[in-house]
Amino acid sequence: MKKWTVSHFRKMKEEGEKIVMLTTYDAPAAALAAAAGVELLLVGDSLAMTVLGHPNTLPLTLEESLCFAKAVRRGAPDAFVVADLPFLTFQISPEETVRNAGRFLQEALSDAVKLEGGAETAPLVARLVDSGIPVMAHAGLLPQRILTAGGYRVQGRSPEAAERLRADARALEEAGAFALVLECVPAELAADISRSLTIPTIGIGAGPGCDGQVQVWHDVLGLFQQFTPKHARRYAELGKLTEQALAAYVADVKHGTFPGPENSF
Ligand code: KIV
Repeated sequence: MKKWTVSHFRKMKEEGEKIVMLTTYDAPAAALAAAAGVELLLVGDSLAMTVLGHPNTLPLTLEESLCFAKAVRRGAPDAFVVADLPFLTFQISPEETVRNAGRFLQEALSDAVKLEGGAETAPLVARLVDSGIPVMAHAGLLPQRILTAGGYRVQGRSPEAAERLRADARALEEAGAFALVLECVPAELAADISRSLTIPTIGIGAGPGCDGQVQVWHDVLGLFQQFTPKHARRYAELGKLTEQALAAYVADVKHGTFPGPENSF
């Protein structure tokens, strides 16, 4: 993977080349994703759920997230890495936000941060960008506001909500975000917003009209077995395969067939 700057992704949009983003949370996963040609590695705060076992993304702390972002950078030294700003790292004050976001660039060597919110976060986005911190915005479904929203629902369905989302997208672009994640937005609306912006949109549950797509590692690899979200496609059944492999290991140890002579010194 080449080392890119934010302008590369705008150029991809101009040239009609779709952008591929995937969450990765550790060094081996980052290396595999980069080798497969994934262009943007997202250290998503979804790691609170997929890796740390929390019921939502809210409990993730800045220190925990930094630890995973550092691992991703070590696994993919040349990849473009975006780190999610966890809950409460950007809601307190602009000063604290710059300090927290800056830690991802300074300590984890991330290339950009992502933060959830609509037009109300535009001044914060501008402040970060003015400080030299590239920002990927994230509008539509905002998992960090799940307790006030009352559930994970498709956003922008009514004409008023669609208009609000269009205004969010415009404000975030004007504030200097280099890309915009659209989560759980009707496909037609997302396509329309994508056409109206010069920055690329990266969709998750937002249809094929976005300029790129983002998915969660565990969803595409079948590692989250309870259910597959509607927006995801499983490209492997690694959860089932892992369980089978581990059952074989257990059986070998129980039967005394592991370790064999080839494993012994
Ligand atoms: O944390 C995450 O995985 C995300 C994606 C859903 C875009 O923010």
